[in-house]
Amino acid sequence: MSYNLLKGKRGIITGALDENSIAWKVAEKAHEHGATFVLTNAPIAMRMGEIKKLAEKTNSEIIPADATNVDELTNLFIKSQEVLGGKIDFVLHSIGMSVNIRKNIPYAELNYDYFTKGIDVSAFSLHKMLSVAKKLDAISEWGSVVALTYMAAQRTYPFYTDMADIKAMLESIARSFGYHYGLDKKVRINTVSQSPTKTTAGSGVKGFGDFYDYADKISPLGNASAESCADFCIAMFSDLTRMVTMQNIYHDGGYSSTGVSVDVMEKLGKL
Ligand SMILES: NC(=O)c1ccc[n+]([C@@H]2O[C@H](COP(=O)([O-])OP(=O)(O)OC[C@H]3O[C@@H](n4cnc5c(N)ncnc54)[C@H](O)[C@@H]3O)[C@@H](O)[C@H]2O)c1
Repeated sequence: MSYNLLKGKRGIITGALDENSIAWKVAEKAHEHGATFVLTNAPIAMRMGEIKKLAEKTNSEIIPADATNVDELTNLFIKSQEVLGGKIDFVLHSIGMSVNIRKNIPYAELNYDYFTKGIDVSAFSLHKMLSVAKKLDAISEWGSVVALTYMAAQRTYPFYTDMADIKAMLESIARSFGYHYGLDKKVRINTVSQSPTKTTAGSGVKGFGDFYDYADKISPLGNASAESCADFCIAMFSDLTRMVTMQNIYHDGGYSSTGVSVDVMEKLGKL
């Protein structure tokens, strides 16, 4: 359903790898809601990915950028403004990668080169994007930036290993930068803490299938889908949420506030 919530708004959407990606759904919804935007991803991902299909469907241009590379991010923000014809109103940071997770390395034995890479790709990248945008004055007043995160930043999930620490940093960067950018330009920055979702990044975590089912049984509303996450991101980009900034907002069907559910107790044979 479209309410044209983003009519006339210009955006940058990172992280659409394939049609399962949360960013893919955000792009589809942003298009439905009347936004124009640029799609971006790391050059290496774009060769493999299907981003061109999404670009055709949403009538958008693709500007490749490795989110760890300040020069490429600078080019992204300059070119996006040229293509879209003005300052950027919303940015989706939907980027996550851990080599330690990919290689199944346990938390207590993390490889620090991989850890550093994960921090750069998944957390510093938000700081770099915001720093570039602020220097270029590329985001309009009351613009909205959303980065996707996971609750492992607050609670321990053994197989999420270094991404837990990296997400904690991402959320902190959103808060800290939210203060500075808010004060100077009224740009707002939030993180959305999403349920486990069946995507390439999500499914890479060991035991993801069982964990997905567990979260679904704990949450009174069930796991939030990628589509509903996209709906929420659209609301966060819209003017209806213009006084919300520096927050980490749970979009998880009630999971984060539930201790245990009847469903899980029954599965354990206690009821
Ligand atoms: N899937 C889940 O269970 C879940 C839950 C909560 C939060 N998240 C977060 O949502 C975001 C999107 O992930 P997703 O689940 O849609 O998976 P995804 O694999 O579809 O998206 C991750 C994206 O990050 C991009 N990326 C990796 N390295 C990059 C780089 N150097 N520069 C630019 N882009 C790069 C990938 O190409 C990919 O498009 C991530 O931040 C992830 O941590 C996912």
